[in-house]
Amino acid sequence: MAPNPPQPHELPATCRDMWPEYSRQVLKLGARVFELISEALGLDPSHLTDLGCAEGIQALAHYYPACPQPELTIGTTEHTDNSFITILLQDHVGGLQVLYQNQWTDVTPIPGALVVNAGDYLQLITNDKFVSAQHKVLANKIGPRVSVAAFFSTGRQPTLKVFEPIKELLSEDDPAKYRAITVKEYVEYYNGKGLDGTSALSHFKI
Ligand code: OGA
Ligand code: NI
Repeated sequence: MAPNPPQPHELPATCRDMWPEYSRQVLKLGARVFELISEALGLDPSHLTDLGCAEGIQALAHYYPACPQPELTIGTTEHTDNSFITILLQDHVGGLQVLYQNQWTDVTPIPGALVVNAGDYLQLITNDKFVSAQHKVLANKIGPRVSVAAFFSTGRQPTLKVFEPIKELLSEDDPAKYRAITVKEYVEYYNGKGLDGTSALSHFKI
């Protein structure tokens, strides 16, 4: 007989216990990553945090049950994240894939490592200098698989603050590719569209 999976109501207790400390550490790490990205873009190290990229995180804890016929289904369909960056903690089971040079490539779990993924807002404000990675999660015979995604997306309430390609990154040869949008506007479009494999960002292209 298969072992009983944990009941959904049992999971949040563990999650609740670790979340305050984990989220504090993830916010700190995120702030550091935004400094490094700012420097990589030739901007002041505080540029992205000054814009409000590191203001808050939303968490999604995923529970993927073991799947007897993984070839017939998918864990999470192909998508990009609606975040500036996402910091993902995955367990040892694996299944996460990223579209790299047009090939689905395994993001093999490394013990103790976190996955940092560029999201759609980073692509928008960097005018495609950072590209939001397409990714998906395969279903797996082995399981369950647990992952915790922390989305840097300006906090709990979709903000009315306007985001647009950073002026310092634009020039005559490299004009803005996206119009200015609010996170609220983006989230409404993203949620209405669903995870259908198309990029929500293209909707806001100039
Ligand atoms: C997501 C996501 C990947 C995973 O939550 O956006 O892509 O490994 N999660 O669960
Ligand atoms: Ni994702």
